[in-house]
Amino acid sequence: MNLTRRPRRLRRTAQIRNLVHEVDVRCDDLIYPVFVTEGENVQSPIESMPGIYHYSLDRLAIHLKEVWEKGVRAVIFFGVPDHKDACGSGAYDPDGIVQRALRMTKKLYSEMICIADICLCEYTDHGHCGVIKDGEVLNDETLELLSKAAVSCAAAGADIVAPSDMMDGRIGHMRHTLDAAGYAHTLIMAYSVKYASAFYGPFREAADSAPAFGDRKSYQMDFRNRREALLETELDMEEGADIIMVKPALAYLDIVRTVSEAFDLPLCTYSVSGEYAMMKAAAMNGWIDEKRVVMESMIAMKRAGAKMIITYYAPQIAEWLREEEGQR
Ligand code: PBG
Repeated sequence: MNLTRRPRRLRRTAQIRNLVHEVDVRCDDLIYPVFVTEGENVQSPIESMPGIYHYSLDRLAIHLKEVWEKGVRAVIFFGVPDHKDACGSGAYDPDGIVQRALRMTKKLYSEMICIADICLCEYTDHGHCGVIKDGEVLNDETLELLSKAAVSCAAAGADIVAPSDMMDGRIGHMRHTLDAAGYAHTLIMAYSVKYASAFYGPFREAADSAPAFGDRKSYQMDFRNRREALLETELDMEEGADIIMVKPALAYLDIVRTVSEAFDLPLCTYSVSGEYAMMKAAAMNGWIDEKRVVMESMIAMKRAGAKMIITYYAPQIAEWLREEEGQR
């Protein structure tokens, strides 16, 4: 054969492949979700997410050391409170579990990027992400509470607040409230494109936040829609979002691509609890090569256009990346 173009030339050795490859995952791209809970000496496993735990603050301190030393530089906190009520008051309690976790983390590791997930569902007795009246999740009344939660987390040291509730207008409301309270420097990472997804199942076990009635389809997006992702992102951008997000990740890489091509803001994707559970389960059965499947998935998210990834695998990936560096 007299072939002028032979793509295989670029694949001939590992060194050439490394020279020409397009996409990398770096430790700095990773954000690690952490569940914090009341009590002392608590490190309780989440059954559907092997390797992931609820931590009381004393145990969190120990875990953070490990996470920091592995090279992870960003964490996002989720609260698992003792007390739940109709308006989710734990979410905006200045002394709430996440607020205390933020203060402690900033004291121990001032350079750790601390992100506070802002939502009511972990704190409401009905498990919905907003206040309820006559069986409806009220939008505008919920905004006040979310903004209060954001300010209390900013005051506790959060570098970034990340509203995950999907109420309309929350980014603008939160931006104004933060600015008025003196937190103009606090970033907003908007869960702009968040679908009503069955992939959140293990998280709801972890956070005990499954809705007591109905579902989240009146506020989270319909996964049959793609163009709606552009509208949601545009609104969040206009309202002042600094970072935008697509969630879940793996089954939604077409959306990641769509959003990354349409907007210039840094884009995050959230590889959610169900994705972790699937990969973990198959790995524990010896059915897949965990490291290779996880790294391939992360690369796929970056290749689709994500700049950063929220993943329960963050500390493990940091460790793998370090091992690889060490082998050179
Ligand atoms: C809170 C929230 C959820 C997740 C992140 N923030 C659950 C939900 O919307 O039901 C899911 C994260 C995951 O599955 O890993 N609203």
